[in-house]
Amino acid sequence: MICYDYINEYVRKTIKTNQGILPELEDYASKNHVPIVQPEVARLLTVTGRLLKPVRILEVGTAIGYSSILMSEILAPGGVIDTIERYDLMIELARQNIKKAGLADTINVIAGDASEVLKCLDKEYDLIFLDAAKGQYGEFLTECIRMLRKGGLIFSDNVLYKGMIANDDLVVRRKKTIVKRMRSYLNDICNSDILDTSLIPIGDGVALSYKLE
Ligand SMILES: C[S@@+](CC[C@H](N)C(=O)[O-])C[C@H]1O[C@@H](n2cnc3c(N)ncnc32)[C@H](O)[C@@H]1O
Repeated sequence: MICYDYINEYVRKTIKTNQGILPELEDYASKNHVPIVQPEVARLLTVTGRLLKPVRILEVGTAIGYSSILMSEILAPGGVIDTIERYDLMIELARQNIKKAGLADTINVIAGDASEVLKCLDKEYDLIFLDAAKGQYGEFLTECIRMLRKGGLIFSDNVLYKGMIANDDLVVRRKKTIVKRMRSYLNDICNSDILDTSLIPIGDGVALSYKLE
């Protein structure tokens, strides 16, 4: 947690709760220690996403399909989501959950490591949600910028990683490489000529990067 607990508690009890299959998936994720997008970040994702009226969304890091099902609510009519996942069990669970939610024609789970899959995709996306291995965001960036339409958004989650990114005193030894890579990623997206980026201390830290027209 990078925010005060009392703020998070207040925000979480104030924002609206999800409907449909999502509460069941929240329960599953909590009991099985599957990391899913935090409630306050989920709301930021849907609210900013709605402004874009996205027809195509790309997600990196599907897990059990929770955030892709959530984002299906903000798609323009006929819109689609491509979501990439490398872990077989998660791919299976995500496909089951997406089918159960009646979204098999809307959400396409692509199996594989995003560092390879992204190079093979050749579509234009309105919104890209990065929620995978934190040490790899930098590797994904060039391909994400290539496929993001002008006026589109890259929404990167967990960019402040438990405060470690902002404070060396918090960095545990085994996370040093991830921290170094994430700082480099943030430096790139904040100093890019083609992105305008805001860093937001919400959840575990979010970066919103708008691709300039
Ligand atoms: C934080 S979870 C995703 C949660 C999901 N976006 C949600 O909120 O419901 C991260 C997922 O990314 C996957 N992942 C991590 N690095 C990846 C990579 N390089 N390629 C594909 N999947 C990756 C992990 O297996 C894990 O399931």
